[in-house]
Amino acid sequence: MREMVMAWYTGNAVYDGLLAFGFLYALGIFISARFGTPAYGGRFGARSKGLKLGSKAGWVLMELPTLIAFPIFFFMGDRSEDTVALVLGGVWMFHYTNRALVNPLLMRVHPGSPPSFNINVVVIGWAVLVLHSYLNGSFISEHAAHLTEDWLNDPRFYIGAVVYAIGFTVNVWSDAILRKLRAPDPDPDAPRYKVPHGGLFKYVSCPQYLGELTSFLGFSIMTWGLGGIYILAVSAANLVPRARVTHRWYLRTFPDEYPKNRKAIIPFLY
Ligand SMILES: NC(=O)c1ccc[n+]([C@@H]2O[C@H](COP(=O)([O-])OP(=O)(O)OC[C@H]3O[C@@H](n4cnc5c(N)ncnc54)[C@H](OP(=O)(O)O)[C@@H]3O)[C@@H](O)[C@H]2O)c1
Repeated sequence: MREMVMAWYTGNAVYDGLLAFGFLYALGIFISARFGTPAYGGRFGARSKGLKLGSKAGWVLMELPTLIAFPIFFFMGDRSEDTVALVLGGVWMFHYTNRALVNPLLMRVHPGSPPSFNINVVVIGWAVLVLHSYLNGSFISEHAAHLTEDWLNDPRFYIGAVVYAIGFTVNVWSDAILRKLRAPDPDPDAPRYKVPHGGLFKYVSCPQYLGELTSFLGFSIMTWGLGGIYILAVSAANLVPRARVTHRWYLRTFPDEYPKNRKAIIPFLY
C-alpha cells in the first residue's frame, strides 16, 4: 500500500515522490504570491534587501541549470537515443537557449539602474529548475512508456506542438516589444519605462507571461506528462499574480495614458 502511494504515477517511487513534492511547492508559491512578487526586475527587485545582481547576469545564472541539468538527466535514460525523445529534448533545449541566453543577452538595461536581481531568487530558481529538468528529462527518456516511435503520429503530439509554437511566438514577440521600448544604447535621461503597444499588448499588460504559460501547456500536451504540468503550475502561481501587480503598476504610473480596456494576462477576462 505504502509503495502504491509513493509510486502513484510512473511506478518509480523517487520520480513520483519528487513530482508530488513539486506540486506541493507550486501550491506554496501560489499561497505566498499573495504576500508579494519575487524580487527580480527593476520594478520589483530594486528595493529588496540582500545581495543583488544585474538583470542580465541574474537571468543567465538562474536559468543555466536548464541547459546543464536537463541533458544530464536526459542522457541517463535508457531511451535517450530514440527519435521521439530526441525531438522532445530538442524542443526543451531550443526553449531554454532562448530563456537562459538569448533573451537575457538581448535585454536593454537602463543606464545607471541599480542591480535588482536578488540572489535569493537565483538560488530558489535553481531548486525549481533542477527539479523541472529532472521531472522532464528523466520522464522523456526513461519513465514515459507512451513515448514510442508511434507518438510522432499521435494527435496529442501535433496539437501540443502547435500550442507550444503559438505560446513561444507570443512570448518572444512580446519580449521584443518590451525590449524596443528602449534604444539599443539608452539615453540616461530618457524615461526608464513606457507604455507598450502592439501585438497582444492591445489586450493584456503581460502577453509575455501569457505566451510563456501557453508554451508550457503545449509542452505538457506534447509530452503528455505531469512534469510539464509541474512547471506550468509553478509558472502560473508566479506569473498570474505578477501580471496582476504589473497591470496595477501600469495603471498607477500612466493614469491618463494607459488603455483602460486592457486586462492583466487573459484577454477580455482577467
Ligand atoms: N517561467 C517562469 O516562471 C517565468 C518567470 C519570470 C519570467 N519569465 C519569462 O522571462 C521573461 C522576462 O520576464 P519579465 O517580463 O518578468 O522580466 P522583467 O525583468 O520585468 O522585464 C524584462 C525587460 O523589459 C524591461 N521592461 C519591462 N517593462 C518595461 C516597460 N514598460 N518599459 C520599458 N522597459 C520595460 C525590463 O526593464 P527593468 O529591468 O529596468 O525593469 C527588463 O529589461 C518573460 O518572457 C517571462 O515570460 C518566466
